[in-house]
Amino acid sequence: MQVQIVDHPLAAARLTTMRDKTTDNARFRAALSDLTQMLIYEALAGAPTESVPIETPLIAFAGTRLATPPLLVPVLRAGLGMVEQAHAMVPESHVGFVGVARDEATAQPVPYLESLPDDLAGLPVFVLDPMLATGGSMLHTIDLLVSRHATDITAVCVVAAPEGVAALETSGHPVRLVVAAVDDGLDDTSYIVPGLGDAGDRQFGPR
Ligand code: URA
Repeated sequence: MQVQIVDHPLAAARLTTMRDKTTDNARFRAALSDLTQMLIYEALAGAPTESVPIETPLIAFAGTRLATPPLLVPVLRAGLGMVEQAHAMVPESHVGFVGVARDEATAQPVPYLESLPDDLAGLPVFVLDPMLATGGSMLHTIDLLVSRHATDITAVCVVAAPEGVAALETSGHPVRLVVAAVDDGLDDTSYIVPGLGDAGDRQFGPR
C-alpha cells in the first residue's frame, strides 16, 4: 500500500495547533480546514488530467482540468470538518456520506448512515477522516465502496496509528493513504498517542 506522508512545515504547524489541548473548537476547525487543503493538494498531485480548449484574451489555448474529479466521502462526525475545504479545492466533485459512531466500551465502529452512489466503477474516491486509529471505521467505509465497485480509493487522514496503517495494508483493498503524521500507537482505549484527542469533540464539542 502506498503511504504518502505530507510533512511540509505548514502542515506540521497546523497539526501542532490541532494537537495542542489549549486550542479551542474554532481554532481547531480552522487548522483542520487549512491542513485538509494541503492534504488534498498532495493527494491530487499526479492525478490524470485532460485538455480543455479555451481562449485567453490573446489566443486559443489548450488548458488543463482533472480528468475525473474524485468522489469525496467524509466519515461523519469527524470527517465533516474536512469536506468543505476539500470541496472548495475540487468544486466539480460529488460528495457521498458515511456515518460511523464509535462504541466507547469496545472501540468498535457502529455504522448509522450510508449515502453513496450505487456504482463507483472508474471513479476515484477520497475518504475523509481525520483519525486512522484501529482502522475499523475506515475499513467499514472501504468495504462499502468496494461493494459498489470502487477500485481507486484514497484515505485522506490527519493522524494515523501504525495499527490502522497495518489494518489497511492487510485488508488487501485497493487503497492508498495520504496523511500528515503517523504517530506512536494506540492507548488502551484505542486513542492515538500523542494524537489530538477525539477529533469530533475537538471540532464540535462533546456529545
Ligand atoms: N478517534 C479520534 O477522534 N481520536 C483518536 O485518537 C482515535 C479515534
